[in-house]
Amino acid sequence: VIEELLPAEVISVDTRGDLVDATLFPDEERIVGNAVEKRRREFTTARACARAALAQLGFPPIAIPAGERGEPLWPEGVVGSITHCAGYRACAVARSTEIATLGIDAEPNIALPDGLLAEITGLDELLALRRLQLAAPEVQCGRLLFSAKESVYKAWLSVARCSLSFKDAVLTFDLSTGTFTARLLVAGPQLPGGTHGRFSGRWMVRSGIIMTAITAPASVPRSPS
Ligand SMILES: CC(C)(COP(=O)(O)OP(=O)(O)OC[C@H]1O[C@@H](n2cnc3c(N)ncnc32)[C@H](O)[C@@H]1OP(=O)(O)O)[C@@H](O)C(=O)NCCC(=O)NCCS
Repeated sequence: VIEELLPAEVISVDTRGDLVDATLFPDEERIVGNAVEKRRREFTTARACARAALAQLGFPPIAIPAGERGEPLWPEGVVGSITHCAGYRACAVARSTEIATLGIDAEPNIALPDGLLAEITGLDELLALRRLQLAAPEVQCGRLLFSAKESVYKAWLSVARCSLSFKDAVLTFDLSTGTFTARLLVAGPQLPGGTHGRFSGRWMVRSGIIMTAITAPASVPRSPS
């Protein structure tokens, strides 16, 4: 499903149910060795999605360990992102020669817990969000904002290698195009494609799940001559 939000260079594999036959490599087993069953299942299914996606880029089945912040460690020359929530697991990968960084996130289309919205939004964002909520009552817009910020974080971390707090990115959503823009308030790396200080993303809601995705191209698209 999430492939609708991603450019053709990105390979995604997703599933609504758990893949009961999926197995883990020892390096991955260590990550969830003491985890509860629910966490094991989401982790194992998402790793299986990741291997299926990597296979489409020509990789044999390989372990995808985790870095010190929990981020998946992709083979050389690959960028990628993983998400899971109740009833959905997904992975997206691409060659780093084509995509500089990417982040995907899925969340149930339900209201955020009390108090969380105030923690993750600035005042301007909050006002814009109220307008968006009036225009799109079927979307839990606070949750949409949260998901989009998680996508920003995942895309940011693999290029900036440092953390980003929720209020370090100001997001603007466009209902008619299903797009959003993230303006970063902290200094970060210059990305190809002129995306310095800014990420562009896409979003949608399908069968009760909010999905968001950020991709940044690895080179400036050629303008038609
Ligand atoms: C790490 C984080 C982004 C994960 O998002 P989430 O919505 O809780 O959970 P999701 O299921 O969508 O994503 C989990 C997957 O993200 C990946 N992930 C974890 N930490 C990551 C990181 N630091 N960077 C990139 N990807 C990360 C992992 O693959 C993880 O799944 P796995 O452990 O099974 O491999 C989130 O927990 C977090 O720490 N957020 C705080 C920081 C933030 O969002 N700032 C906002 C900046 S605007």
